[in-house]
Amino acid sequence: NLIMGSTQTIGVLVPNLANPFFSMFIKGIQQTAQLRHFIPIIFDANQNQKLQTMYLEELIKRAANGLIIASATLNANDIDRILTRNGIPYLLFDQNDAQVGDRVWVDDYKGGQMAANYLLSQGHRRIALLAGEEITHNMQQRISGFRAGMAKYRATLPDDMVVQTPMTKLGGYQATAALLAKKPSAVFCINDETAIGLYRGVQERGLSIPNDLSIMGYDDIDLANFVTPKLTSIHQPAFEMGQVATELLIERLNNPRLAHQDKQLPLELIIRDSVKLIQ
Ligand code: RIB
Repeated sequence: NLIMGSTQTIGVLVPNLANPFFSMFIKGIQQTAQLRHFIPIIFDANQNQKLQTMYLEELIKRAANGLIIASATLNANDIDRILTRNGIPYLLFDQNDAQVGDRVWVDDYKGGQMAANYLLSQGHRRIALLAGEEITHNMQQRISGFRAGMAKYRATLPDDMVVQTPMTKLGGYQATAALLAKKPSAVFCINDETAIGLYRGVQERGLSIPNDLSIMGYDDIDLANFVTPKLTSIHQPAFEMGQVATELLIERLNNPRLAHQDKQLPLELIIRDSVKLIQ
């Protein structure tokens, strides 16, 4: 490697660097990489296929030693075509469905259940779901778990209580009218970014969270603690997942014959102030 001397590199591809979930994941990668004398090269490609392929090919040209990929649109076949051909070890994360190779993961089904249990324990029954435009495998799990959690209370999530929007603050904001039209007492947002966008939409209409509408997020990004009211969420250990992903990839580089490793990290319900108890 011309630029870095003998330093080894790890290529990292995520959907969106502007989302703190992925920034924390990358910070975890950086920390471990630094300790182990690796340099990460980081890209986001917002699910743009062409851009992703271009970045992968550039990483290969630059002789990346291994890759960490969190992308729903690069499927296992593409990856095998591009990477296996070049013999580069990789680890798939988060939105990738493929259960191949080393894995770092959280139980999204359980995360969905935890969110439903909490909202229902607070008396909510008419709940809307704010989902992404594309329901990736991990989102599917999250939503199925949520439905299962509701079913335990003999409640349901009818399809007409689901609104889909881009998984950004703007996406959440733009979904406000559609969500309010459904007259829910609570909204479960598929991630905190959309929840925070929805906050603005709701508050601009003069409504109060949680008195007029309860909102629950998922991820527990740092902002969750700094919005008013503080956002109740499901904590994903994004930083630790970055650290573990990097550990596993480096172990794989050092020992290609090692049996595949599977590391599951815990999710946690973080109760703050955005869900009202309905008597
Ligand atoms: O906010 C980003 C979301 O998309 C997270 O919930 C993460 O799991 C990802 O797939």
